[in-house]
Parts: sequence; structure tokens; C-alpha cells
Amino acid sequence: MTRRHRGRGNQGIAAPRVPASFLPGDLVQQPLPDSDELLQAVFQAQSDLLLVLSEDGTVLDYRAGRILFSPSPAELLRNRIQDSLPVEAHIKFDEAFSRVQRTGKDSVFDFSLFIKQQTHWYEAQLTPLGQGLIAAFLRDITLRKENELAMRRQMDRLAALRTIDMAITSSLDLNLTLTMLINQVKTQLNVDAASILLVEPQTQLLKYAAGSGFHTDVFMHTSFRMGEGYAGRAALTRQTIRIANLSNHQTDLLRSPHFAQEGFTDYFAVPLAVKGRILGVLEILHRAPLSPNADWLDFMNMLSGQAAIAIESAIIFNNYERANAALILAYDATIEGWSRALELRDRETQGHTQRVTEMTVHLASAFGLTEQQIIHIRRGAILHDIGKMAIPDSILLKTGPLDTAEWEIMRQHTSIAVKLLRPIQYLAPALEIPQYHHEKWNGTGYPFGLKGEQIPLAARLFAVVDVYDALTSDRTYRRAWPRAQALEYIRAEAGRHFDPKVVEVFLRMLEER
Ligand code: C2E
Ligand code: SIN
Ligand code: SIN
Ligand code: FE
Ligand code: FE
Repeated sequence: MTRRHRGRGNQGIAAPRVPASFLPGDLVQQPLPDSDELLQAVFQAQSDLLLVLSEDGTVLDYRAGRILFSPSPAELLRNRIQDSLPVEAHIKFDEAFSRVQRTGKDSVFDFSLFIKQQTHWYEAQLTPLGQGLIAAFLRDITLRKENELAMRRQMDRLAALRTIDMAITSSLDLNLTLTMLINQVKTQLNVDAASILLVEPQTQLLKYAAGSGFHTDVFMHTSFRMGEGYAGRAALTRQTIRIANLSNHQTDLLRSPHFAQEGFTDYFAVPLAVKGRILGVLEILHRAPLSPNADWLDFMNMLSGQAAIAIESAIIFNNYERANAALILAYDATIEGWSRALELRDRETQGHTQRVTEMTVHLASAFGLTEQQIIHIRRGAILHDIGKMAIPDSILLKTGPLDTAEWEIMRQHTSIAVKLLRPIQYLAPALEIPQYHHEKWNGTGYPFGLKGEQIPLAARLFAVVDVYDALTSDRTYRRAWPRAQALEYIRAEAGRHFDPKVVEVFLRMLEER
């Protein structure tokens, strides 16, 4: 084997990796042109075309199978192979020759030739034969390459569809989804521009919603009636329209005199429909003629199907959002109505609910609670005494102190509130205040006698506000206390009735007001 490296000054190098069926040493032992049989056998195992080259690439001999090659092997004979090939293949051969000379090892590379209007791919393996000779085994790998490219395209498209799917499910922001779709259309279909027009439900007009690839803003201001313009016709007929030479078409069909500046020549309008309902139109534009094949059209249809689904989901979601927002407003109006009904029974507490609600929200944000938590705290505060609905007037409006039996009933207003509100699911996170607002920090409150941080923070916050407002208001059973006395009481109850940290923040908050 070392013979192969003779005269190249690289004897230390490990023997080259050579396919088992190939015996270069034997080839060299017997001068090549004479070893016809062996050469033929090796060639058949290895390649569609075998060239025997001198070190500078001159073709000395060849064996050709059924290979399509241009120039033909006969034409190559006695010429340098590089010089007979187009520039890219030329460079690849040059590089391979110098690699072989540098390393004494095989060099394998791909190159392509454009023959009979088609790209053909070849794999070349250059093998040093010693004595200044190089064998070039060439194989036609066009089929493999085409398969690879087709698979790559499929993978890209699958990935594109997956991206779109995820965007549809994860983002209900229609603009984002449409922009992403447009970008996929541009890259996957390899076109200059695309836009999506949506049917506006009230007017049934097709209006620009998203687009990319335009030089001017001509397309941003479009609005078509059904049946009007190419897009309108695609929408009306539910058929894809293609105008293969847009520039030749009458300009009165085009959306603006500036349209010509865009320089588009090829145009598709694809209707976007779900279950027979037209939602919009996808426009695809290119500044050179397109030559769409079945694959391209398939993918265009897939993308428009996805676009239609995205639009439908967004419409459904927007309607749902709106309905949901309306429902929440209705609920909140309802619970405010309940608390007003309660206050109507007890004139003395009028305005109490609104004051404690505002103060509790304020205190909660001073405590750093989140917007979301505060929504529930607000509802809880509004509903805190809703259980008093079930307390008879004789007790609720009693001018004197309550006796034991009356007190027993009055204390039930927290559990009555829970029974009343529990079935209303959206109020579930708001129940802490109605349920626990009479618990005390030292464990002497009701209904459970919870202690310290066993009491939910919302209820600890609320209790301070509630007592302060009760003390500074007239009650049927006593007159309002002066503010200073109420504050003194709150301070004194820190660590007994109230969470001392809450009292601290509460007092600071009142001072700042
Ligand atoms: P409310 O009048 O809104 O009072 C809320 C809370 O503020 C009371 O919860 C209590 O912790 C505090 N508070 C109110 N007034 C005073 C007071 O004069 N002195 C002190 N130290 N704290 C006061 P509580 O005690 O659980 O009472 C719950 C509800 O029971 C009261 O709501 C009120 O509707 C009723 N209630 C309590 N005591 C009497 C009473 O003597 N007569 C009548 N008719 N109702 C009472
Ligand atoms: C048309 O739809 O009227 C012409 C093509 C375009 O402006 O989109
Ligand atoms: C009130 O807030 O009206 C007083 C006591 C209670 O919450 O039951
Ligand atoms: Fe209460
Ligand atoms: Fe209250």
C-alpha cells in the first residue's frame, strides 16, 4: 500500500479508507491500460463513469456505463476535466485535486451539471493511484438529490404548518397570526409579496388586514365589495383566481394608479373559507412569472386552509371575549345590587360598603397584592356582610345590645354568606373576606377561631378597615366614635384583634390621605 504514497513525502499517514471491493495497489502493480478486466470489474462496482486522470486532471482513459454526462466521455479524452466543466464543477475538481495531492487520500464531493434543461447531480470520488495517476469514479446521484430536496421541502413545509398551528392555538391575536402566515407564504412559496384581506362582518367589505413585501402602501388601503376586483371575485366565486400576466391587464381592475409601481406580474387570489363561510382572501404576488407545480399549489391550498382556520378561531375568540366581558360586567353589577339592597334595610350602614371596599383595595395595593388578587378582594369586600340579608330586622336594627340568642344568630352572617355565594363559581376566589372577616389575630374571633396567618391575608386586611369604618359611623346601637378614638382603638388592637403589620400599613395609609 505504501507504494501509493511514493514520492509524495507523506508516508506517515494512515492508509486511506477505501471500499473493500477496491484494490488500488493491484491496479498500480499492473499498468492500467492493460488491466482491462479488473478495471471493468472495479468500475462496475463503483461507478457509472470511470476516468483515469493524470495529476493535472487530463483524461487519459475512461470506462462509461449508462451515464448522462456532458461533455461526453469521448469529448473529455485528452482534455483537462476541469476545463471541460462549468465554473462551479471546475472549482470543485481543482479543490479535490489539491486535496488528493496534499493528503494522498481519496476525496469525495458532489457537483451538478445542467443537461437538457435539467440539473443532474454527480458524486465524484478521486482516488490516487500512484505514479501520478488519479482515478475519478463518477456516479449519477440525481435521483437521490431530488429525493433529498423534496424531503427537505416537505420538512420545511411540515415545520411551517406546525408553526402556524402553534400560533393559532397559542395566540388569539389575529394580527400576529396573520403576519406569521404571510411570512410563511412568502418563504415557503418563494414569492415576493402576500396580503390577507378580511371580510368585515357588518359591511361585507373585503379589507386589508396584513401583508408583506410591498414597496408602496397601495395595498394597505384596499377595500373591495364582493365580486369587485380579483380579490372580490375570488371571494364571491370561492375560486382561486390567477392572473399570470398582471401588467397586461386593464388598469381599471387594479386597485390604484400606483399599483404599476409595485411591478407585480403574477397574482393569485385564494378565497379563505371555513365550512362554506367566506372569511377573507389571500393574495399572492410575484414580480416575475411563477411556474407553480402541483406541489406548490398543494402547499398554497394548505396554507390558505390554515389561514382560514386561524381567522375563524380569532373571530370566535373575540366574540367569546366580548361575551365574557359583558357577563363579568353583569355579574359585578349584580353583586353591587345585592349589597345596596342590604344597605337599604339598614340606613345607618349606608355608604359603608363602598367606603370599606375602596379602602381595602387601597390597603391591598399598598401591601403589593396583584391586580388579579385585588379584583377578588374588591368583590369580597362588596359582599362581606351579604349574609346579614338573612338576619331578621328585629336583630339587625336593634337599638340596644344583643342578647345571647340574638348574638348567636348575628354571628351566623359569615357562614350564611358562604352558603349564599358558594354556588357562584366566579366568586369562589372572593369568598375569603365574607367567610373570615370576623376572625381575630389572637384566635378569639368567629366562626372558626383562626389565629395569626391561618387567617387569609385578604380577611386580615379587611377586618381593620371594617372595624375602623364601623366605629367612625353611626350605628343603631351607638353613635359614631371620633376618628382619633377609632385610630387609638385600632392601634391598641394590633396583635390582639388585628395583624400588627396590617395595622402599621393601615395607619400609615390614613396619615398620607
Ligand atoms: P358592624 O356594626 O358593622 O360592626 C363591625 C365590627 O366592628 C364589629 O364586629 C366589631 O368588631 C366592630 N365594632 C363595631 N362597633 C363596635 C363598638 O362599638 N365597639 C367595639 N369595640 N367594636 C365595634 P362584630 O362585633 O362581630 O359585630 C358584627 C355585627 O353585629 C355588627 O356590624 C353589627 O351589625 C352587629 N352588632 C354587633 N354588636 C351589636 C349590638 O350591640 N347591637 C346591634 N343591634 N347589633 C350589633
Ligand atoms: C384587483 O384585485 O383588482 C387587482 C389585483 C390587486 O390589486 O390585488
Ligand atoms: C359590618 O361590616 O357591617 C360590621 C360587621 C360585619 O362585618 O358583620
Ligand atoms: Fe360582618
Ligand atoms: Fe362591615
